[in-house]
Amino acid sequence: MDDPEKPFEFVVKPADAVQIDCVHRIFSPGDYSRPQHRRYEVQSNGEGVYLIAWHLETPVGGFLVRWSGPQDEAVSARIDVANSAFLEGGLTIDEYRRKGVATAIIGEAERLAKEHGCTRIGLEVGSSDNPDAKRLYEKLGYVDWGHGDFTIRWGSMDAEGNTRMDAEVVTYMDKPL
Ligand SMILES: CC(C)(COP(=O)(O)OP(=O)(O)OC[C@H]1O[C@@H](n2cnc3c(N)ncnc32)[C@H](O)[C@@H]1OP(=O)(O)O)[C@@H](O)C(=O)NCCC(=O)NCCS
Repeated sequence: MDDPEKPFEFVVKPADAVQIDCVHRIFSPGDYSRPQHRRYEVQSNGEGVYLIAWHLETPVGGFLVRWSGPQDEAVSARIDVANSAFLEGGLTIDEYRRKGVATAIIGEAERLAKEHGCTRIGLEVGSSDNPDAKRLYEKLGYVDWGHGDFTIRWGSMDAEGNTRMDAEVVTYMDKPL
């Protein structure tokens, strides 16, 4: 049990192949489409870095930063995202929220993206159903792009191989680096 009096200590590091099964068990148990492994593949392919925050041996949060994106046409048709990094898959597990984990990961993502030559960084966030995340991003300097909402869709898979599609109405936010 963590001592509430002690400052919460964690480190943010790029994902490592040997840790990704553990990250999967904690972040997306029961999703047989293996989203954590797919994020790690983005890093292996040199298209970005999957940053994981670790508290001792426990992965407590993560964000994938891509060196360009998003690929959603709703965004790429309106603005040039070629030199803009893109944050996705952001998560801090419940019991470790409001301790600065996401703030630290995003800070490291911004540092790496700038080092990589990106001039901006963006993300998509639920426009009305995720006010907490949106407020955090605003606090970190991200600004709504002003071109309205659009819908994103993604799939997950259960143990029997049944695919389930989810959708969310999001807006795009970004900031200069
Ligand atoms: C959105 C999310 C990633 C934020 O993660 P988090 O690690 O709790 O974020 P932080 O701790 O950095 O910041 C959250 C809040 O805690 C505050 N905070 C930061 N460090 C703190 C500390 N040491 N003590 C108290 N509060 C702190 C932040 O200022 C922020 O305040 P706000 O709510 O007024 O904006 C997390 O809530 C989450 O996983 N949500 C579900 C999935 C999701 O929505 N992902 C994002 C998709 S776009």
